[in-house]
Amino acid sequence: MKYRVENLSLEEKLKLLTGKNTWMLETANGKLPSVFLSDGPHGLRMYDMETNSTKKATAMPTLSLLACTWDTKLAYLDGQVIADDCVEHGADVLLAPGVNMKRTPLCGRNFEYFSEDPYLAGYMAKSYIEGVQEKGIGASLKHFCLNNREYDRFYQSSEVDERTIREIYCPAFEIALEANPWTVMCAYNPINGIWASENKKILKNLLRDEFNYDGVIVSDWGAVHQSARAVKASLDLEMPYRKDAYEELRKAYESGFLTMEEIDERVKKLLSLMEKVNNDKKTITYTKKERHEKAVLIAKEGMVLLKNEDGILPLKGRKVVLQGPFRDYVSLGGFGSSYVETDFPLKKITEALAERNSEIQWIQPEGFVAPQGDTYSIQKTLMDSYNADAVVLFMGNSGRIDGGRIEGEGFDRTSLRLPENQEKLILSVTKINPNVIVVLEAGSAVDMSPWIDKVKGVLYAGMPGEGAQEAIADLLLGKSCPCGKLAETFPMCLDDTPTGSYSGDGFVDNYAEGIFIGYRWYEKNNKRVLYPFGYGLSYASFVYSDIKIEKKSEVDYNVSFTITNNSQVDGKEISQLYVRDVFSRVIRPNKELKGFNKVFIKAGESKRVSMVLNYRSFAFYSTALEKWHIENGDFEILIGSSSQDIRLKDKISIQLPESEQYTM
Ligand code: GLC
Repeated sequence: MKYRVENLSLEEKLKLLTGKNTWMLETANGKLPSVFLSDGPHGLRMYDMETNSTKKATAMPTLSLLACTWDTKLAYLDGQVIADDCVEHGADVLLAPGVNMKRTPLCGRNFEYFSEDPYLAGYMAKSYIEGVQEKGIGASLKHFCLNNREYDRFYQSSEVDERTIREIYCPAFEIALEANPWTVMCAYNPINGIWASENKKILKNLLRDEFNYDGVIVSDWGAVHQSARAVKASLDLEMPYRKDAYEELRKAYESGFLTMEEIDERVKKLLSLMEKVNNDKKTITYTKKERHEKAVLIAKEGMVLLKNEDGILPLKGRKVVLQGPFRDYVSLGGFGSSYVETDFPLKKITEALAERNSEIQWIQPEGFVAPQGDTYSIQKTLMDSYNADAVVLFMGNSGRIDGGRIEGEGFDRTSLRLPENQEKLILSVTKINPNVIVVLEAGSAVDMSPWIDKVKGVLYAGMPGEGAQEAIADLLLGKSCPCGKLAETFPMCLDDTPTGSYSGDGFVDNYAEGIFIGYRWYEKNNKRVLYPFGYGLSYASFVYSDIKIEKKSEVDYNVSFTITNNSQVDGKEISQLYVRDVFSRVIRPNKELKGFNKVFIKAGESKRVSMVLNYRSFAFYSTALEKWHIENGDFEILIGSSSQDIRLKDKISIQLPESEQYTM
């Protein structure tokens, strides 16, 4: 160790446990290196102390869109690109990724999170962290834990049973911890009545002792209410600087509430972080232009073709009308600490489309829809659309259009519907032209019920970042084949969701739905959904065949199968492996995701895909045994093109020694 706790005075130690300012750690009067922490998950959002402004960086697609790539290699690449900006600007730790579960589609920060499923979120986050840290930049896995809505996020307690915590809200963290993130950020909210920042059961018993996390636990900004209690719960770093923190800690030490051993243990974590920060891996891999190209690539691989009636896409014809609030505005992300300011010259959609197809006449009627109910004229749009071959409407939930904040940090949506004026535009145009395509920019599920049956095409573009228009143009014109699949369910309506319009009573947010969120919820309650978890169309088509299961042990299996591209178009297919416990003496979801793969297959060719299953693929968390447990019996292995499009099925029977069983 280069930095030693013995070289620090008590005052220097106590001051180290709280930030020096908003973004930096203390340096013990220069004895220690400075460490700069900086947001965010979709690109560097770094405060420039000199100019009191935000530095410019590459605006990657949001994590919600990255998740729809189902591609851990792209998650790794995403982390690498953002780390390049960190290296360039001198940020040492990137405050990302967030892996909170999308419990309700209303959560304002869903665009910052991966999925409703912990397995997908965990493995995407793990690769993202590996990509960031491979370049000598630290990551911060956040927000631990049970921070699943923005409403009253600082005070309302998440009331959750043990099994739900273990099976739904921790596994994404457990999997991502395999990448050894340098820091984990604790959440704002209380958990079962105790602030996350002071919750010993969550921070020490679970994260440190059971998950063996030995990095730095940092608070969310302003999440510490009593520094000494936080230290006792094994929080290492309170951010940002808080003027009373030092006094609280000094008094706690002098009163004996805090021991020197407890203080030293926390300080040593910070010193080892400084050792990690001081590394020689901080090299820049990509130029700014190359980073932009990666932003386009990842956006393109994440966008999901939800509807393509009559093969309306790829776009054809002579005259196409382009309209909507996101036609000339690029959704770089939602409002809040994750918003990235890019200085890359962004293309307009018409420019991007015309570059790819100059035969089509691209019409842009003026007076397009404003995001909120401003008055606007659509007469010109209707007249131009009347004899157009197709109309493309760029719609969505804004994060940053002034006055149009719909998705963002600090607030939740109150509806899943698009703004009324956008719905009206879609309905008006579909009355005079049957060939309407909606390009939807949103960070979470949208209720499309008023208009989905009236349009022929829907491309879900997520919050695509600075590469939005090039990615959308490539997909609309067939220069690339859509391959993204939904990482969250799009329900029919808000009332069908696990929590509906419930948002807690101001003191407690009761997780009454337990382990049944996302597809687990809709399947348990036999609720039809608009588009299921794992769903996405392609210009290609794929058939699945020849499933084989190879037993390696009573709980370890290799599952393999063949996918054939039976179309004329080269494409990528995301396959998913779900496990169903046929009979169980505890309630279990109908099935759970336990594997996924993405593979490129040329037209007419086939590829063999394989995935592995292990103990945790079959186990549930037994609160009776206080451990993960498998009940002997049959398990179905389901291979799906989506959670509701199961293409292959087989089953295995697990017979563990009776001594480990508790059946009759
Ligand atoms: C914010 C967010 C957190 C962010 C931090 C620093 O309140 O909750 O995700 O990293 O503060 O901006």
